Amino acid sequence: MGVGPGDPELLTVAALRAIRAAAVVAYPVAQSGGDGMAAAIAAPWLLAEQRRLPLLFPMVAEAPPRIAAWHAAADALAVEVAAGLPVVLLCEGDVSLFASSSYVLLALRQRHPHCPLRLVAGVPAVCAAAATASAGGIPWPLALQSEGLLIRPTPETAGELEHLLDQAAATATNVALLKLGQRWPWVRSLLDRRGLLEGALLAQRVGWPDQLLAPASAVPSGERAYFSLLLIRQGWPAVLP
Ligand SMILES: C[S@@+](CC[C@H](N)C(=O)[O-])C[C@H]1O[C@@H](n2cnc3c(N)ncnc32)[C@H](O)[C@@H]1O
Repeated sequence: MGVGPGDPELLTVAALRAIRAAAVVAYPVAQSGGDGMAAAIAAPWLLAEQRRLPLLFPMVAEAPPRIAAWHAAADALAVEVAAGLPVVLLCEGDVSLFASSSYVLLALRQRHPHCPLRLVAGVPAVCAAAATASAGGIPWPLALQSEGLLIRPTPETAGELEHLLDQAAATATNVALLKLGQRWPWVRSLLDRRGLLEGALLAQRVGWPDQLLAPASAVPSGERAYFSLLLIRQGWPAVLP
C-alpha cells in the first residue's frame, strides 16, 4: 500500500481505510531495529493495538541477501494472512515505482500463489515534487501535450547521462532522476555545462518538515540525501498561455 513520499496528508482514502482495517502493519526497514520511512509517514494513522511487523530489506548490491529478504518478507506476510489476520504492507511513495513491495508481490505470486492481496496506489515522490514546486512559485508541469516523461535512477556515469539527455532532447522527453544523492556533484557540473541548471528542479525529502525544493542552480555541489531527485526539462511546447 502506497503511503506517499512524506506528508501523511498524501495518503489516499483507500490507504487510510486499509490501515484502519489492519491487525498487522508491515513495513520495510533497511536495518534491524530501524524505523523505516513508510512507517514514519503512516505513523499518525496507525493504531496502538496494531501489531508492527518490520521486514528487513538490506541495502546491499549482492543478489543473494536481497532475494532471501524478499522471500522471507513474502513468507512472513503469507503466515499472517493464513492466520486470518488483515495485514497491510506500507510502501513509501507508490507501490509500483522502484518499490520493495514490487519484489514482495513477485515473491508472493511465486511462493504463495493463492494468498489474496490487493495493491493500493500511492502518490509518487516525482509527482509530489512537481506539485509542491509549482505551488511554491516554481511552475513545474511534469509533461505537457506530446511530451514524454522518463522516470529512472540517476545514471552511474557522466557519459550515460549525456547520452540520456541527448535522447530526451531529441524526443521532447522530460527526465526525472531518482537516487540522486551522492551523484549530485558530477551531475551538477554536467547540467551546468549544458546550460540546464536553471530549468532543473532539485527536490529533497519532499513532504518532510526539512524538505528542499529549489532550482538546481541554487543547490551547491556536495552530496545530497538519498531521498532526493532531479527534474530536468530541456524545452517547452510552442503553444503555451
Ligand atoms: C526506491 S525509490 C522509491 C520511489 C517511490 N516508490 C515513489 O513512488 O516515489 C527511492 C528514490 O525515490 C526518490 N524519493 C522518494 N521519496 C522522496 C522524497 N520524499 N523526496 C525526494 N525524493 C524522494 C529519491 O530519488 C529516492 O532515491
